[in-house]
Amino acid sequence: MKPIVIANWKMNLSLAGRKKLAQDLKKKLSRLSSVDVVVCPSFVSLAHIGELLKKSKIILGAQDVFWEDSGAYTGEISPAVLEDLDCQYVIVGHSERRHNLGETDEMVNKKVKACLEGDLTPIICVGETLEDRRENRADNVVLLQVRKALDGVNLLENDQIVIAYEPIWAIGTGEPIEPQEAEYMFDLIRQNLLDLLPLTKVNNSVRLVYGGSINDKNINEFIGLNLLNGFLVGNASLDIDEFALICRAFK
Ligand code: PGA
Repeated sequence: MKPIVIANWKMNLSLAGRKKLAQDLKKKLSRLSSVDVVVCPSFVSLAHIGELLKKSKIILGAQDVFWEDSGAYTGEISPAVLEDLDCQYVIVGHSERRHNLGETDEMVNKKVKACLEGDLTPIICVGETLEDRRENRADNVVLLQVRKALDGVNLLENDQIVIAYEPIWAIGTGEPIEPQEAEYMFDLIRQNLLDLLPLTKVNNSVRLVYGGSINDKNINEFIGLNLLNGFLVGNASLDIDEFALICRAFK
């Protein structure tokens, strides 16, 4: 599997700013074939950005999804609608949703299943708080999130998942985790995945990525880490030059 670099634009930029960034991305990165570049704008601009990215290699993703396909769910967006808009990836269980909006592991699990029942690849975010880390329970917290997110999940022939390890205290702070600690967590996650999924699926259908204050200055400390297969990038994805450097870091 190719490495993947995911831009999470969150609730940033005006519509004009998002369109400009998409156009710049297309100019700078549309011929890059060594990585899958995924851009996740807010729901309201998926159609605009999707249109601008047509005929480029840049892939469209969403920042969230609901688990039902239709019905009385005010404000929610179904997997089917995201597929209509040509989304291929969806961020699920981002810590900002878990913490600001009370998204639970059970909800994350339903979203993961809904993505896979459709044609969407979930980017499942897991990560511990600073308190969890200080009190030596980071491993347990992260592994429980992984297990609950994948509870009852079967990966079929073409299904893929991405697991994004994002220590919450490293998101948006300018202070990423020490690369060796990320590597340690990837190893632990992989060991656990082997309890949940067949070896061939773990090897061929799951990508492990890191997120949390990745930028063009620290990227090279992470490239080459054992088991690391990409990045989920917030702030640095809003700067075209910085984001292009991050994407090109995989040779
Ligand atoms: P950051 O955000 O790169 O700004 O730390 C990462 C994320 O929230 O996915």
